[in-house]
Amino acid sequence: MGGNCIGKVFKVTTFGESHGPAIGAVVEGCPSGIELGPGDFAEAMARRRPSGRPSDTPRREQDKVEILSGVFEGRTTGAPITLVISNQDVDSRPYELLKELFRPGHGDYTYFKKYHHFDFRGGGRYSARETAARVAAGVIADKILSPLGVSVLSYTLELGGIRAKKFQFETIEKDKLRCPDPNASVEMEKRLQEIADKGDSVGGVAEIIISGCPSGLGEPVFDKLDADLAKAIFSVGTVKGIEIGAGFDSARMQGSQNNDPITPEGFRTNHAGGILAGISNGDQILIRTALKPIPSIKIKQDTIDRQGRPATIKLMGRYDICPLPRALPVLEAMVKIALADHYLRQKPYERRT
Ligand SMILES: Cc1cc2nc3c(=O)[nH]c(=O)nc-3n(C[C@H](O)[C@H](O)[C@H](O)COP(=O)(O)O)c2cc1C
Repeated sequence: MGGNCIGKVFKVTTFGESHGPAIGAVVEGCPSGIELGPGDFAEAMARRRPSGRPSDTPRREQDKVEILSGVFEGRTTGAPITLVISNQDVDSRPYELLKELFRPGHGDYTYFKKYHHFDFRGGGRYSARETAARVAAGVIADKILSPLGVSVLSYTLELGGIRAKKFQFETIEKDKLRCPDPNASVEMEKRLQEIADKGDSVGGVAEIIISGCPSGLGEPVFDKLDADLAKAIFSVGTVKGIEIGAGFDSARMQGSQNNDPITPEGFRTNHAGGILAGISNGDQILIRTALKPIPSIKIKQDTIDRQGRPATIKLMGRYDICPLPRALPVLEAMVKIALADHYLRQKPYERRT
């Protein structure tokens, strides 16, 4: 199975399955001398962990990150950093029916068609459990970016068709659904409860704002920054759409409206979303991404078995109701991984005069 690695200089490989003994990441290309210890991961891992919100799976994991290599006397050595997170709260019984049946909307069908033999327990390799390893790797990326003044903020813009109208950024971290509009958050929570009561699921839209990104990140022609950010974000399950800056709206504008006038103080507007010709322009990078509803639902659905015979499926396992807000720390981690890679790739071109 290929495709487990992202990045060219700052390279992240993840491993492990949802119901195997552990998941983790190997991070290559991290510069030496960066302070790193197991305690550095606690906050980021806690932000991804399910926490009793109506949107979250009841699965409870400690998500303690163990460092197996690449750190000596509390600092990175430049060698590959191996991070391991054990799986403890595993219950594979509800997944027995997946030996035969495919969940509509999930990866069971395509994994079967491609690999024929695969670990389907809890979604195996295609489970969102794998994203815990990405969040851990994102902590290391953050150690490279934050001294440069780069910060990444993400929030729930829309959930179950309810959209934030106010933007109180200072309350996001305290809001259960990480929504910047407290009134919309209450409506979203009610919607989630209604959906959970029906055994159904919903999706939403996340917005990501990258501030402090220096100009010059991104490489012609296939490794444009927007292309690599989109790849990093699209690698997260449930992601079905992405917009940068004015995004789809730019298709309805005229050039005179869409162009961002350049002044000695900087760009007057930011329809470009901080990227021009695949290279960061020093402005905020603005991204919106659409996440589909969680595929595992507790409503009877039509499917087929492995022999292609018609069947029905009704799931009873532990599932999230919506990928938001849990996907937000994962999206942030993927953005940081892509940015750290491009920052380290840009270093040889830095002007020294
Ligand atoms: C944070 C997060 C949590 C998720 N939780 C679940 C879940 O509890 N149950 C489930 O079936 N899918 C869950 N998913 C979605 C699946 O991982 C994903 O939809 C599936 O692998 C199919 O891939 P696709 O959505 O890219 O087509 C979650 C995704 C994310 C990002």
